[in-house]
Amino acid sequence: MARGTVKTAYERLIDRQLLVSNGPAGTRVSDNLPPQAADMSRISQQETVQAPGMIGPGSPPRLFQLGVPAQDAFPTKTLSRLLAQAGRKAALLPLSYPDPRGEPALRREIAAYLAVARSIVCHEEQIFVTAGFTSALGLIIETLSPSPYRAWVEEPGYPLVRAALALKGVQAVPVPVDANGIDVAFGVKNAPDASLAVVTPGQQAPLGMTMSLARRRALLDWAVSANAYVIEDDYLGELQLNGRAAPALASLDAGERVIHVGTFSKTVSPALRLGFMVAPSRLVGEFLRRVMFLSPAPAAMTQIAVCSFLAEGHFLRHLRKMRRLYADRRDLLGSTIGTPLRDRKAGGLALVLPLPDEADDAAIARRALGRGLGPSPLSSWYTDPASARSGLLLGFTNMTPQSAGRAWRDLQDVIADLPRR
Ligand SMILES: Cc1ncc(COP(=O)(O)O)c(C=O)c1O
Repeated sequence: MARGTVKTAYERLIDRQLLVSNGPAGTRVSDNLPPQAADMSRISQQETVQAPGMIGPGSPPRLFQLGVPAQDAFPTKTLSRLLAQAGRKAALLPLSYPDPRGEPALRREIAAYLAVARSIVCHEEQIFVTAGFTSALGLIIETLSPSPYRAWVEEPGYPLVRAALALKGVQAVPVPVDANGIDVAFGVKNAPDASLAVVTPGQQAPLGMTMSLARRRALLDWAVSANAYVIEDDYLGELQLNGRAAPALASLDAGERVIHVGTFSKTVSPALRLGFMVAPSRLVGEFLRRVMFLSPAPAAMTQIAVCSFLAEGHFLRHLRKMRRLYADRRDLLGSTIGTPLRDRKAGGLALVLPLPDEADDAAIARRALGRGLGPSPLSSWYTDPASARSGLLLGFTNMTPQSAGRAWRDLQDVIADLPRR
């Protein structure tokens, strides 16, 4: 071996503090070897990323899977062109820090869209671009501290919200939902001192009903009197299959109590990790400090691409197309299972298939996974296991005439075995 190669190897080992050179006295192995890399085998399976409703990160959507857009209708060509253009624009940006609230042009587009589509009149200064609902939630919980405080959550409701609140030491108080949405009177009676409520007024997650006007007023009145805030999780936005989507709760919010959160996860793709938040003006300063020091907006490139997607009219066209497609797929699911769904009152992009209360829906969902299907157990959306209803949430966004019949027969086979709780 050439002398130079050996010398380079020695120098590298010395740089990494594995060898110590004592000049002419020789080179020895260091007495204080630096620590080894962490032992990965100690990270258990449970600690790998697995959130409710999330079937292994990065895997393609399965039939009946909840909360994922139609893979076959994704605007691949348009978005890849816009992302490539955005990459070039981002590379030419000045080498300084971007606005931590998000790209001003995107915030203007979002404000204009919200005014037209969700009846929210807001200034672009109130808009903060986030990495989806999840990161907006983190930002809000952080900003509304000091913990501990109590927060109303819908029962049943999005499990990730409960998990996020628990991580931050906030006590989640389950408040039942009925045909009109969250039961505000129950919340007022049982937890009047809560300082936050997290709700899905547009289309309740997971049951799909729209919160009635009376309930909306009652919720806002409570928020004003309790000095509390309401997070409006508008995760489906305008993706309402039965007629027009109701205006956002934030559009009624004269008392500046609602923090409206939108996401592009359902309307475009969860892989974008992009969403936004509209802060009541009194909280803008607080949020600004948090995004400056703790969690700035995501990378400019995705923001620039999504900004063009909105500005060039692709987003509205895409939404119109998806509403038609999802209505067809809902009807296809209805005809496959023999229950017409066309006139169904509930919205959402999933059907609840009730099971007998003693049926172990989580075990059924696990078995279905083994058959390549992705239904979600309804019981996991409840805080209180004792009151949890058993059922399967059947997402229909990826249902096609070719796949529907076979998938339904496979699911029926799994259900026929009915593991009991
Ligand atoms: C109720 C609810 N809110 C919000 C989201 C979206 O979260 P994100 O924007 O972090 O993808 C989901 C996704 O499944 C959801 O079910």
